[in-house]
Amino acid sequence: MAGQPGKTTLRALKLGVFVLALSPFLLMVWDTFIGNLGTNPVEELLHRNGDWGLRLLLVTLAITPLRRLTGANWLVRLRRMLGLYAFFYACLHLLVFVVFEHELSLAALWEDILDRPFILVGFCAFLLLVPLAVTSTKGMMRRLGKRWQRLHRLVYACGVLALLHMFLLTKSNDYREPLLYTAVFAGLMLLRIPAVRQLGLWQRFR
Ligand code: HEM
Repeated sequence: MAGQPGKTTLRALKLGVFVLALSPFLLMVWDTFIGNLGTNPVEELLHRNGDWGLRLLLVTLAITPLRRLTGANWLVRLRRMLGLYAFFYACLHLLVFVVFEHELSLAALWEDILDRPFILVGFCAFLLLVPLAVTSTKGMMRRLGKRWQRLHRLVYACGVLALLHMFLLTKSNDYREPLLYTAVFAGLMLLRIPAVRQLGLWQRFR
């Protein structure tokens, strides 16, 4: 069983994760500032924010299996921050799209949502993230009780839609990247199935 860190260590860990998860954003700001975003800066920003949104969503989903596997219950204390970071990058992703591709025209965004299936799917994934972010506070958790857990199962649907979004936008039939993310997501889902949990893999790893 992994030991539980003390208050100070946990605070330092949280700060470390906070800075680490913020670093792609800081790098984007820096690269924008020095003009290091390649020949198509908007596409580069769109891709970087989309990738980090998805990666952090997967990292958030990894917390529960990792906690069970290692017995490190304190990991759960990092989950909300990681989930909110996934939302943060998804917001930036949408912002870049609306500001630079549609020049802030919500009508043009709506037309695009109806026109291109991958935009519709991405938008649905984003919409699912909103109630999760809004209800991520301790107060909301307390107020919603059991309903909180039920509501937060939306994160699985959000993961599926984000992956579908990625498959649909993939060009020239190179599906390696979405397949890799899908494999990670599928692995994390598998570890949540009660029958798999009962195999006692956790105890063997500890
Ligand atoms: C809010 C609605 C969304 C819109 C309008 C949107 C739009 C886009 C666009 C236009 C692209 C680039 C497509 C291309 O290069 O041809 C893209 C890529 C991507 N998006 Fe979204 N997206 C949305 C939501 C999301 C969400 C919620 C996630 C994940 C949390 C996500 C993850 C990605 C990923 C991983 C990529 C591919 C990046 C890459 O190829 O490196 N998107 N999205």
